Amino acid sequence: MSRSPTIVRTVPALRRAVDSLRARKATIALVPTMGALHDGHASLVRLAKRRANKVIVSIFVNPTQFAPSEDFSSYPRTWKADVAKLAAENVDLIWNPDVKTMYPDGFATRIAPEGPATVGLEDRFRPHFFGGVATVVGKLFMQVRPDFAIFGEKDFQQLRVVTRMAGDLDLAVKVIGSKTVRERDGLAMSSRNVYLTPEQRGVATTLYRAMKQGAARLRAGDGIDAVMAGGAEMITAAGFVLDYFEVRHAETLAPMTAAKDGPVRILVAAKLGTTRLIDNIAV
Ligand code: PAF
Repeated sequence: MSRSPTIVRTVPALRRAVDSLRARKATIALVPTMGALHDGHASLVRLAKRRANKVIVSIFVNPTQFAPSEDFSSYPRTWKADVAKLAAENVDLIWNPDVKTMYPDGFATRIAPEGPATVGLEDRFRPHFFGGVATVVGKLFMQVRPDFAIFGEKDFQQLRVVTRMAGDLDLAVKVIGSKTVRERDGLAMSSRNVYLTPEQRGVATTLYRAMKQGAARLRAGDGIDAVMAGGAEMITAAGFVLDYFEVRHAETLAPMTAAKDGPVRILVAAKLGTTRLIDNIAV
């Protein structure tokens, strides 16, 4: 049976709720989201439930990680359906601040991540992004004070950035990555998939196929440059505008010269029409 999560919208109310969980010796796992929840988010919540007694999901579409040209105002907002999904997963609390609560008038402090945030992947195409993510996730960690925080591997560079940030700032949270959930044809689940036309949706699976093919070639001993060129060609031929198809070290995200120096991750970002998709796989 599902039960409705407590919905909290102010910092003092959140503090009281977290204090009361802590007084009862509960462990807390946080799942940060921007809403528009899908089965990928449900899998993050399930992993959170396995790690902690209480699960808090934040729903906040964070304006500071969108450039003015990006989709902040049109980003899908599906509040009622989100609450129903979280109730079905028996989430304990939804933290749903508004923009003024998160960024009050006069807000003047930002976290500026480096290291994995400056390796020339997402940061090359969305220079504002990781500053916005690190600042909001840093705030979420300080507001919720979770023992665990669960992030999808789909945003692999983001996972590396928030892990580094939590360690660098001595935050007492263990960041855990959760495997990407895919549609039957391999397309990674994403809140932005709703933007795809039926025709684009058919083509979108090319990203996964190109990465699988690249991984197989690397395992067979093909060189990294040839694999990156092959992936780029396949994705462009399918009608995408490619941002990157990169073979990187899975821990540092640094470029590599030989797959034997791994662990290796293939990461891709490309646009179909106005929709930008990202994905990655381990080799
Ligand atoms: O991955 C997301 O949904 C967002 O970047 C996050 C981590 C919730 C921060 O706004």
